[in-house]
Amino acid sequence: METTTETKKALITGITGQDGSYLADFLISKGYQVHGIVRKASNFNTQRIEHLFKDYNKPDKLFLHYGDMADATTLIDIINKVKPDEIYHLAAQSHVRTSFDIPEYTANSDAIGTLRMLEAIKLLGLQKTTKFYQASTSELYGKVAEIPQNEETPFRPRSPYAIAKLYAYWITKNYREAYSIFSSNGILFNHESPRRGESFVSRKITIGIARIKAGLDKKIYLGNIEAKRDWGFAPEYVESMWRILQQEKPDDFVVSTGQAYSVKEFLQLAFTYAGLGDWQQYVEIDLQYFRPTEVDLLQGNSSKARNAFGFEPKIRLEDLVKIMIDADFRKYNLPVIGAGDRILAEKFPNRWWPID
Ligand code: NAP
Ligand code: GDD
Repeated sequence: METTTETKKALITGITGQDGSYLADFLISKGYQVHGIVRKASNFNTQRIEHLFKDYNKPDKLFLHYGDMADATTLIDIINKVKPDEIYHLAAQSHVRTSFDIPEYTANSDAIGTLRMLEAIKLLGLQKTTKFYQASTSELYGKVAEIPQNEETPFRPRSPYAIAKLYAYWITKNYREAYSIFSSNGILFNHESPRRGESFVSRKITIGIARIKAGLDKKIYLGNIEAKRDWGFAPEYVESMWRILQQEKPDDFVVSTGQAYSVKEFLQLAFTYAGLGDWQQYVEIDLQYFRPTEVDLLQGNSSKARNAFGFEPKIRLEDLVKIMIDADFRKYNLPVIGAGDRILAEKFPNRWWPID
């Protein structure tokens, strides 16, 4: 692991997702050569990284490989060809509600997929040269044993997704202890952005508001709006993934803002910022969006990450909502309110990602 930052190679699984795309922006800005695993779909699924592979000034910075977490031989082949210094394993069926509909697929991709990645490192003899980051999650805490949750809080997962991620968390630790692989877990609390998938509640609300403003929809249909989450800003969180792999020793870290808000409070902030007034006239409750078992509250304590690498999130919920609404208004060709754009300009003068 003596290579300099300039010559380092990173492999990102899930590069086409929210986090993978920001991480690719970040690592390229750091001088890495970035390789990403993309699964074959009948339509293009690379919209979030289009700006990178269309940047002909950086032709040797981004390389994409077809692969799937369910396909071990291809994963081994890619890792063998790339021989990455760092692997960021972000690929997953990441939707909690959907994991109740497709539990076996979720276990295969999220649990066994992680095992396949770690086995590939071991089989190829890369234990000493390839570091491994596992995208662990606050969903592990489930029916929380304490408030706030830190690295010592017991896990009580409440969905097929969280239970698959529980396996992935422990196999990451086990390969660290058994084979001395530099494998670390980032236990990230919810993080959102203009690139957030459209079926997660934050983006569903900000897109819903843009569509109402544009006259395309009249209502937003939601599930349990009493649930509370600790919502942060994705670009800040992907930076912490990199920090976790730059530590002297492999370890596990909680990454969170420390503040929890309900979906209702998210709605209130978002509708007020958008100038639509009382959210209750636009929101209907639809039972199909409830989960058979819910996680009522997540609120993290990231003191360990603060002490180890100075993690201190700049964006709290009020700012996040403005950033997301400005971006969705832009997407729908509505006049942009602008406070979100100003927050980005003020708080991130050296922003390494393009405005969304
Ligand atoms: P996301 O937007 O849903 O992205 C998931 C990525 O995984 C996409 O690139 C997706 O490809 C890919 N993928 C899914 N199944 C795959 C498979 N079988 N083989 C190969 N690739 C596959 O998720 P995210 O929000 O960026 O989250 C990144 C990771 O962090 C996930 O593991 C998630 O569980 C975890 N996490 C997220 C949060 C959060 O709040 N965002 C918090 C804690 C942990 P397509 O683009 O083709 O769908
Ligand atoms: N998705 C969704 N859609 N959620 C809704 C809705 C709705 O219409 N209405 C209410 N909610 C509630 C959910 O029940 C949940 O309590 C909360 O909003 C957040 O839901 P999501 O945005 O889907 O995120 P999540 O917390 O279930 O999972 C996300 O964060 C995890 C980290 O804690 C995902 O990104 C996971 O992959 C990640 O691990």
